[in-house]
Amino acid sequence: MKKTISFITENFNKSSPDLVGGFQGFQRAINMEKEDIIQEIVLSGLKGRGGAKYPTGKKLMQSAEHHDKEKYIICNADEGEPGTFKDRELLLHDPYGVFEGMLIAAFAINASHGILYLREEYKYMIDDLKNALNHMRSLNLLGDRILKTELSFDISIFLGAGAYICGEETSLIESMEGKPGRPRIKPPYTLEKGLFSKPTLVNNVATFSTISAIIRNGYEEFIKYGTVESPGTKLISLCGNVNKPGAYEVPFGMTIREIIYDIGEGIRNGNSFKFAQIGGVSGPLVLPKHIDTPFSYEDLNEIGVPMGSGAIIVVDSDNDILDYLDAVQAFFKHESCGKCTPCREGNRQLLNILSRLREGKYSQEDTINIEKIAKTMKYASFCGLGQSAPAALLSAIEHCPQEIFKRRD
Ligand SMILES: Cc1cc2nc3c(=O)[nH]c(=O)nc-3n(C[C@H](O)[C@H](O)[C@H](O)COP(=O)(O)O)c2cc1C
Ligand code: SF4
Repeated sequence: MKKTISFITENFNKSSPDLVGGFQGFQRAINMEKEDIIQEIVLSGLKGRGGAKYPTGKKLMQSAEHHDKEKYIICNADEGEPGTFKDRELLLHDPYGVFEGMLIAAFAINASHGILYLREEYKYMIDDLKNALNHMRSLNLLGDRILKTELSFDISIFLGAGAYICGEETSLIESMEGKPGRPRIKPPYTLEKGLFSKPTLVNNVATFSTISAIIRNGYEEFIKYGTVESPGTKLISLCGNVNKPGAYEVPFGMTIREIIYDIGEGIRNGNSFKFAQIGGVSGPLVLPKHIDTPFSYEDLNEIGVPMGSGAIIVVDSDNDILDYLDAVQAFFKHESCGKCTPCREGNRQLLNILSRLREGKYSQEDTINIEKIAKTMKYASFCGLGQSAPAALLSAIEHCPQEIFKRRD
């Protein structure tokens, strides 16, 4: 049985700012030069855990270059990707670790306001999170001149309205400004012109938790795990047809097989592995031939699979691939913001064709159009939602056409 790691999850269920060891990372940070804090994150090789894998150290460095009096830090807890629940676990079991990461970042880049953007479905946590913030205020870990430093910073909570697209950072910001949650054209980037046109750093919940664990323990401890190109550990959410679904912290480099069979204790009812989707439903299918691929940015890249949010949805041999794809496309149709035609219309048309394919009564035109529409969405959609919505379908057409095009007439 492979063991999971407790680096980011070290303080699960025991973190408190007034316990011995509480806020050790922040205590260490305020005795460091700001450039050295950022340099430590650069050396850790940490990439954003929200899906876009942007190097976190580089983002902090770019953010520090903006010297406006008002500067925002937003912690993205929208977590709308199906199968993804790592941020929920972090906020439930170690909220202080998340807030500490925001504080360290605020100190390093001189930010003035912090906001936790919490998905509407997580509002049941809001009282506990507010209590944690009040507790921090009572210890001067938030407020004016925190722990006698020059940092004055507070964190508030903004509740989303339950839209997947609002996880995309510019839509998130639009929604916070009271507008419909639709993506902005970039540039300007949010680092320069974000919330209320002020410089804004947006990072994922797990990115902030990892920042606090790295600064607490030193980057050298972090890079003892993982691979050269994917140093460290990652909290994954393993779900679907495995015996033991859950959020697990794993070192990069473990194979997908080890994650499913050792950590997830195999597939339900002894069924065989049909495919998995990594990063929620926005990526291509991971097929049996890929199961020994190490879970790392570079190895997944080799098989054309983005790591995304790090969710692993396992699908067993009892499932029909067309039923699965229908559920995926229905999700994207529901969540499309409607701003651009390829995504708004494409998801609708794909669902129509999928319904005919599921009945086994489809035309020759359908077999051509399904791929044409999916590719148009991939290349012409305005944002990542529409660009990745047909990824599962396109890989299924490429690798298992016999399961997609089955006539029943
Ligand atoms: C459709 C869509 C949904 C997204 N949803 C989330 C989300 O729920 N949480 C998140 O952290 N990032 C999400 N992102 C990525 C964010 O735009 C952004 O890259 C991220 O919050 C940056 O944080 P990081 O650098 O720590 O990963 C989403 C992107 C897209 C295109
Ligand atoms: S791809 Fe277009 S329609 Fe789809 S969510 Fe993005 S902007 Fe909205």
